[in-house]
Amino acid sequence: MESEAAAGRHGSLCVKILFLGDIVGRPGRSALKRNLDDIRRTHCIDLVLANGENASGGIGLSSKSARELFSAGVDFLTTGNHIWKFKDMYAFLNNEERIVRPANYPAGAPGKGWSVFAQEGLPEIAVINVLGRTYMQALDCPFVALERILEEIPESVRIRIVDFHAEATSEKQALAWMLDGRVSAVLGTHTHVQTNDARVLPQGTAYMTDLGMCGPQNSCLGMDPEPIIKRFVGGLPQRFRVADGPIILQGAIFDLDDSSGAAKSISAWSMHIG
Ligand SMILES: [Fe+2]
Ligand SMILES: [Fe+2]
Repeated sequence: MESEAAAGRHGSLCVKILFLGDIVGRPGRSALKRNLDDIRRTHCIDLVLANGENASGGIGLSSKSARELFSAGVDFLTTGNHIWKFKDMYAFLNNEERIVRPANYPAGAPGKGWSVFAQEGLPEIAVINVLGRTYMQALDCPFVALERILEEIPESVRIRIVDFHAEATSEKQALAWMLDGRVSAVLGTHTHVQTNDARVLPQGTAYMTDLGMCGPQNSCLGMDPEPIIKRFVGGLPQRFRVADGPIILQGAIFDLDDSSGAAKSISAWSMHIG
């Protein structure tokens, strides 16, 4: 049955989603707290998804920061390779429905790799998180994991959004082509650098290689460049810290047909905050 709220909001049956790239540290969290309500209103956003793997101190996510992001207006969190940094996250992943960790960790890992988000006035939305293997930890195959998950998701859930947390562009593109027409969106995270390739693939899957980040702009991936330069030049371990200064919020905004789940449009989104 059609969603009255979605129909009323846009005059057609579609769901408008903002997916934010990796949120980095307190600066990223605070900027969202101050601005997300306005952003939602300005763009008539129905649902906000965000990758939270760097939201606590730049590496990892604590349950406290996750709650803070939910109260800031993020509806659902995806994560990535840094999700295991804070031990309180293990129980949080098991108990909280609005968060997923990469699905291709071996069986027995806390939490879940996909979840169905249900909210009054919106169709059910499956969110799936997988980790790439190229230049990353060798986990189970994300392509095989996706095939299994697509069998498991109830047929009635037509909107299916994949966060592919991966390093290599080729791996991200390959997964998107494999899933074209079978999921609503394949969106990359992890590199923290927004790509200029948002498009709807021929069979109706929205794709973007990397959403970018929400964090300090004058930085290496959100962190202060100085210790990172030292590490590259001297080769010794350094203590990294979240950078200061102006913030950039980045992600993608996309429209999905709420009955078929197909993408109608996608565009990169970003906003500078002095
Ligand atoms: Fe990240
Ligand atoms: Fe990552």
